[in-house]
Amino acid sequence: MCGIIGYTTKKNNSVEVALAGLKNLEYRGYDSSGIAFSTPDGLKMVKAKGKISNLEEKLKSMDTTSSCAIAHTRWATHGEPNETNAHPHKVGKITLVHNGIIENYATLKKELIKKGYTFASETDTEVATAYIDYCFSLEKNKLQAIVNACKAIRGSYAFDIIFEDEPNTIYATRKDSPLIVGYSNEGNFAASDISAILAYTNKYTLIQEGEYARITSSVVTFYNENLQEISKEIKTATWDAAQYQKNGYDHFMLKEIYEQPKVVQDIFERYFDDCTYSDIDFTKFDKIHIVACGSAMHAALIGKYLLQTYAKIPVTTEIASEYRYSESLITPTTLLIVVSQSGETADTLAALRLAKEQGAFVVGIVNAVGSTIAREVNKCIYTYAGPEIAVATTKGYTSQVAIFSTLALNAMKQKGLIEDENAIKDELLSIKDKLDYTLSLRDTYLDIAKDIYNHNDLFFIGRGIDSAICMEGSLKLKEISYMHSESYSAGELKHGTISLIEQGTPVIAIATNDNLFEKTVSNIKETKARGSYTIFVTTDDHKDCHFEEFADKTIILPKTSDFTQAILDVASLQLVAYETAKLRDCDIDKPRNLAKSVTVE
Ligand code: M6R
Repeated sequence: MCGIIGYTTKKNNSVEVALAGLKNLEYRGYDSSGIAFSTPDGLKMVKAKGKISNLEEKLKSMDTTSSCAIAHTRWATHGEPNETNAHPHKVGKITLVHNGIIENYATLKKELIKKGYTFASETDTEVATAYIDYCFSLEKNKLQAIVNACKAIRGSYAFDIIFEDEPNTIYATRKDSPLIVGYSNEGNFAASDISAILAYTNKYTLIQEGEYARITSSVVTFYNENLQEISKEIKTATWDAAQYQKNGYDHFMLKEIYEQPKVVQDIFERYFDDCTYSDIDFTKFDKIHIVACGSAMHAALIGKYLLQTYAKIPVTTEIASEYRYSESLITPTTLLIVVSQSGETADTLAALRLAKEQGAFVVGIVNAVGSTIAREVNKCIYTYAGPEIAVATTKGYTSQVAIFSTLALNAMKQKGLIEDENAIKDELLSIKDKLDYTLSLRDTYLDIAKDIYNHNDLFFIGRGIDSAICMEGSLKLKEISYMHSESYSAGELKHGTISLIEQGTPVIAIATNDNLFEKTVSNIKETKARGSYTIFVTTDDHKDCHFEEFADKTIILPKTSDFTQAILDVASLQLVAYETAKLRDCDIDKPRNLAKSVTVE
């Protein structure tokens, strides 16, 4: 949700560098953007509605010689996406960019209006800007003014702040929204994440909550909230700038889909070489809660199935935005697993904090190295899928499923429930070839996309583990193609929803689960009898089944075990969604209204 970058340099190219960095943050929100930069005549501010390319266009005709800039790409929370609501905001002597939500902005606004402040935008951020300005009017020490303002502000924030009389210095702080400081020979940065600065440096420091940074082109100084100087470790990022390029693919999503065979294979190889989480003692826990949002929750559903079915541990799954406000009944023998690609999702983070407070041991399955969730869990298992840029997750999801498979295996091993580990190992390590084959069926997926792309409604149906696969297939299609699609447990359809099936309604039916194959086929026949256009997804061990009786199209995938089947199935549905979105001419990597990292509640 929103990306910010600040850059102060010994040279005069701060605008160019900040814009280049901002483009790498565009996945965090892209309904408007803006930049403020220092000039001999004071700070100049330019904003544009829509993508960053609109902002760039406006800047083309301007003199952008400047040695300090702060920039922002927005995912609107307070007020519609327009230039007035876009950041930066300037009030009095303060100009700032913000990622997060100021929860008590209405109260602060009333207080400030009484003191004579007026507001141009509908945003919470303008209120925060005014509040810092107000604190600065009372307390001439800049850092102290920021500290005082932050004490009054409730909510989440990452701020890059410029004071009018010090236009080449950036002040930065954060709470519940990510912010890093980056160092290069030419200048220094404060940005939402490393992707913004990797083209210039891989040296960075994480700003922790309650810490404040004063950043000039040559020196970065950190302070605690008592304004004592503190020293911080400089880290080296392992991801490199090339991983943020499309490398010849039309879209990041497509590139990331094709990275999956290696990502997943690497997870299994790492597990069998040296399982770094064999220290999680599954025999100590009598129940597991898995908490996540969106696709990560869909991966959690596969995890639940594997841990419950094979490791015999009772598992409940709950979406984080509900879990954090529910009676979670955590006991000392509850294991909480949180799942998050970005490691920054606000609800998942809140759930993990709550569970830790209640004494739970928390394991995180996280992709973004060094992210907040990764740092706060008791035990972090990284997926190491590499940067995921497309808003719709693909390798993020499959890598989470692969980790769940290894967690279930590990739990089974500890509980003496594995009979033939070598057979499982052989099967897991053959995933790459099977996934390569699955991804090679592009013509099939395109053919299906042509059948469905001009329909208004579509259904995914399946039973057991297949119903969790349906959920992910349906979400992928919805978010990138804007087609209305619903995922339903096949057995549940006749309890109401089947009334929506008309002549020609597309139904994607998944039947890869042997125990339930015949039952699912019966359910498909029920929809077929009511006119559905059926796309049947199954595995090659069923290839002799008479599909023509109920299927208009088929996707036949390699058969694997429960530990990996979901990975193949969902990969095929990712490509159906991709081809459909392409035919519908959608903005595949940046679907409307969405953002990659949901750092607000
Ligand atoms: O970064 P996280 O895994 O915590 O994100 C969770 C969801 O926001 C995310 O999976 C979302 O549903 C994706 N856009 C789905 O493609």
